[in-house]
Amino acid sequence: MTSELGKLEDLPVSYRNELTERNLVPLWPGLRNVLPYERPAHNTRPTLWRYEEIRPRLLQAGELTPIEKAERRVLVLANPGLELETMRATPTIYVGMQLILPGETAPNHRHTPSAIRFVVEGSGAFTLVNGEKCPMQKGDLILTPSGLWHEHGHEGSGPVVWLDALDLPFVYAVEASYAIEGPKHETQNELDASQTRYRRGGLIPYSSLNRQRAHYPLLRYPWGEVKDALLALAIDTAVGEPVQLAYVNPESGAECLPTLGFSALMLRPGEQLHPQRRSASAVMHVVEGHGRVEIDGESFDWGGADTFAIPTHAEIKLVNASSVDPAFLFIVDDAPLQRKLGFYELLSE
Ligand SMILES: [Fe+2]
Repeated sequence: MTSELGKLEDLPVSYRNELTERNLVPLWPGLRNVLPYERPAHNTRPTLWRYEEIRPRLLQAGELTPIEKAERRVLVLANPGLELETMRATPTIYVGMQLILPGETAPNHRHTPSAIRFVVEGSGAFTLVNGEKCPMQKGDLILTPSGLWHEHGHEGSGPVVWLDALDLPFVYAVEASYAIEGPKHETQNELDASQTRYRRGGLIPYSSLNRQRAHYPLLRYPWGEVKDALLALAIDTAVGEPVQLAYVNPESGAECLPTLGFSALMLRPGEQLHPQRRSASAVMHVVEGHGRVEIDGESFDWGGADTFAIPTHAEIKLVNASSVDPAFLFIVDDAPLQRKLGFYELLSE
């Protein structure tokens, strides 16, 4: 089917030099690198970051670097296959662990990349999104979409840590990533207003029917409700089928951000799950429980608040190590971006 393509060395040096001097490159020696047959090449490595290794170093960052010197005090989970300094967990997904201490504020700004926060530990922190104050409890998902003002604060005691996930690598790759600083916002409406309006799936404010669907009607997805919904879904889900819920825009039913998708997965006690391979890359974060994951044949044990990266097209197996308790994972993937670009695939074995 394929013939061997010419190599760069097959070309006379003088010709190669002439091309280089004119900023020209012959395609055929590198064609298979950028367009391999059957399966994409990837540098992303299956990688697990242990929270017990991150946490003490994050708290140390709290002592070493005042918030004024950090703006956002974050340790980035960087994939070793993708050059650490490029700060990518997968080619499209940035993930960091952010620490905020009592009384600190992370100043108001907005930027082109879209972001979410997923609370890992502590209470008393909040995120203000376009003036709407969203409380942050463990496991809550808070959206700070592209272009929306956001700042963080902490009115409680003890450290608060959350996971940030952004489409920064993609936005940076298209040279569109930048931020704008803003003055401190006053709270503009009642606490947690979007959560009040969109309290239950299937019910939306009637007035929303008379206008275009809102891009980001719901800003906070409380973990307590997600967990209850998963426990209920498990009763009605056949063994071997994933007990998984997608976070969506309650008005449109579409993914809640344009580029990244978010879901919560429950592994029933003792469950072994072999999800269908797919073209999206993903990051999984442990909310509760412990178990094992195999990613393209590499095996990792996971426990509370660990996070792991899954390359595109990877084969994965997930195991809940407990025969008594369910385990819960929060998943970020780039499926929405791939769907919009027209190449998202569910793959056969
Ligand atoms: Fe931000």
